[in-house]
Amino acid sequence: MAVIVIVGAQWGDEGKGKIVDVLTEKADGVARYQGGHNAGHTVVINNEKFILHIIPSGILHKEKVCIIGNGVVVDPASLIEELDGLKKRGIEAGKNLFLSKNAHLIMPYHTAIEKEQERLKGSKKIGTTGKGIGPAYVDKTARAGIRAGELLYPEIFKEKLKTNISVVNHLLKNLYNASGFDTNAVYGEYMEYAERLSGYITDTDIILNRMIDDNKNIICEGAQGTLLDVDHGTYPYVTSSSASAGGACTGLGIGPTRITKVIGVVKAYTTRVGEGPFPTEINDSLGEHIREKGGEYGATTGRPRRCGWLDMVVLRHSIRINGFTGIVITKLDILDGLEKIKICTGYRYNGRVYEEFPKELNIIEKCEPIYEEIPGWKENTSGTKEFENLPEAARAYIKTIERMLGVEIHIVSSGQKRDELIVLKEIF
Ligand code: GDP
Ligand code: IMO
Ligand code: MG
Repeated sequence: MAVIVIVGAQWGDEGKGKIVDVLTEKADGVARYQGGHNAGHTVVINNEKFILHIIPSGILHKEKVCIIGNGVVVDPASLIEELDGLKKRGIEAGKNLFLSKNAHLIMPYHTAIEKEQERLKGSKKIGTTGKGIGPAYVDKTARAGIRAGELLYPEIFKEKLKTNISVVNHLLKNLYNASGFDTNAVYGEYMEYAERLSGYITDTDIILNRMIDDNKNIICEGAQGTLLDVDHGTYPYVTSSSASAGGACTGLGIGPTRITKVIGVVKAYTTRVGEGPFPTEINDSLGEHIREKGGEYGATTGRPRRCGWLDMVVLRHSIRINGFTGIVITKLDILDGLEKIKICTGYRYNGRVYEEFPKELNIIEKCEPIYEEIPGWKENTSGTKEFENLPEAARAYIKTIERMLGVEIHIVSSGQKRDELIVLKEIF
């Protein structure tokens, strides 16, 4: 039995989808624990590309149990669209997909409120994905949310909706000068979704804990990344959920004692999409080169991702917060052909050197990264499957990362496809 949490170690888009897909072969179930359809997890099988938003990346393996946990916020329309898109491509999420009764629903007013708030913030906007994620989590915490399980009880659903819309319309009209919502119209729309989704809605905590009791192998799939975690990220430029490993327990209803390993997915460089500080960002043509070569455009919004060097200060923070038992390095191949590679080992601010990630946003915003430079390599590493076949400088880069972090590297990924990776140590 193994319960493995897969967590993004940076600002998301580290390649979690690919790694979850690869590991699913040896797993019995995959469970998403937080976030919503703000996530875009890419899996490439042969030459076919799939982008999963809230359905676990394990769905592409037939008959594995896939769970959308209570910590996820679900836009039913988007979930149905995802299900239909997969079906068209021959992937049926039938009896193996389960949606938690306690997962909160994203409502149309969440998206509307987010749009107004981002607009009013102007240059201080967060640069969200615009999917209603933040306001849905606000309602959850404010005890005003509507949960997936309530789709099964139309009367209760309507009652809650009526109360919420009366409050929200007041807010939208009087505060934001925007148009409100009609209870009956939203109710009708959501009852159609209920018809499509009711078969999936169940007690996922019970299913998952029983699987663990039966010695099954489980992957807990994180979305976003540690630096986007609402508590441990670059607040307020974060998402609204617990993306780090702790979120797996609350977001799935499993106890911390159930978890056997926590694996951090680390991109061989760093990217970030949306606003917020990014100390190692490369603002010249090299940044553009990495963006183009790495295909660094948002899988959900298509926005260009900001690119920068690997940051040990960020990763040390990530290791501490998540307690990584091992890491996976992805996209090593994107660094092929660079003369020199920089690794950030500390930040300098106001004459002081910071080796640990500062909590103060103003310091993270203004600090100057301290770099160690190592030689790059000319050779093409894409698709490499054996560590020995990597150029010496690439091996040295991997070994340097492992030494600096003091955490074992399990896998080095060398391309988008399933088999494009080097396994140094099995995870299952
Ligand atoms: P996620 O959100 O963490 O699942 O990551 P995304 O799917 O948003 O972004 C990662 C991108 O990198 C996707 O297009 C993947 O197909 C791709 N990818 C993952 N691992 C590798 C790798 O080792 N090499 C290359 N070249 N691409 C990779
Ligand atoms: P995956 O799972 C990268 C970012 C947004 C924005 C901030 C808040 O694919 O790694 P939100 O819509 O969540 O309120 O936006 O978080 N963000 C992501 N960045 N990868 C993601 O998911 C992200 N999900 C949200 O760009 O900066
Ligand atoms: Mg992504």
